[in-house]
Amino acid sequence: MRIDIITVLPELLVSPFEASILKRAQEKGLVSVHLHNLRDYSSNRYKQVDDYQYGGGAGMVMMIEPIDKCISELKAERDYDEIIYMTPDGTTLNQGIANELSVKENIIVLCGHYKGVDQRVRDQFVTREISIGDFVLSGGELAAAVLCDSVIRLLPGVLNNETSALTDSFQDNLLAPPIYTRPAEYKGWKVPEILTSGNTPKIEAWREQKALERTQERRPDLLEDSE
Ligand code: ADE
Repeated sequence: MRIDIITVLPELLVSPFEASILKRAQEKGLVSVHLHNLRDYSSNRYKQVDDYQYGGGAGMVMMIEPIDKCISELKAERDYDEIIYMTPDGTTLNQGIANELSVKENIIVLCGHYKGVDQRVRDQFVTREISIGDFVLSGGELAAAVLCDSVIRLLPGVLNNETSALTDSFQDNLLAPPIYTRPAEYKGWKVPEILTSGNTPKIEAWREQKALERTQERRPDLLEDSE
């Protein structure tokens, strides 16, 4: 998989891809992430990428020209399955969307800034608009990092058995059950006996039950969705 991220703040996106699982995924050749500084595509001598909005009002708007130039340059090299715009008014990211994107070959992620991008960018180029939740960030970069993390960890070979995505929360519309590690007793607080019993079928049944209870208690909406 190849991910091209278009941004005015590439610095913000360096460290997330230089650590841990995302770094290893790139080293293994399972994904390549490319950062593109939108200012490099500005035709303006001040490297301007934003301007005042038509009709007046506070806040700058990202101009179409540099974005068009950057996307066109990328599209001339290869076909893209999706051009995603990170925006608080997009579809809220969930595990289903991450799963869907994880089978794509090439995607572009466009990070918004200021008030956002000229509507014509969304109309002409963008195939999908994604939000990471009902709150407003200063820009799309951190949202793009969240999206990329959720997708890359699903690529075959990225996770090993210890970090398997199969038992993650949401993978079956259930939250994950409680988990414990050694010691079996700490300051009198005990690990549930069933988990140290060695009875695998019983442990599985317990985990399923706990996952269901936790979901009913915290996220009943997930159970409704799966019906
Ligand atoms: N840009 C600003 N806020 C955002 C959000 N919540 N999700 C995605 N992109 C954003």
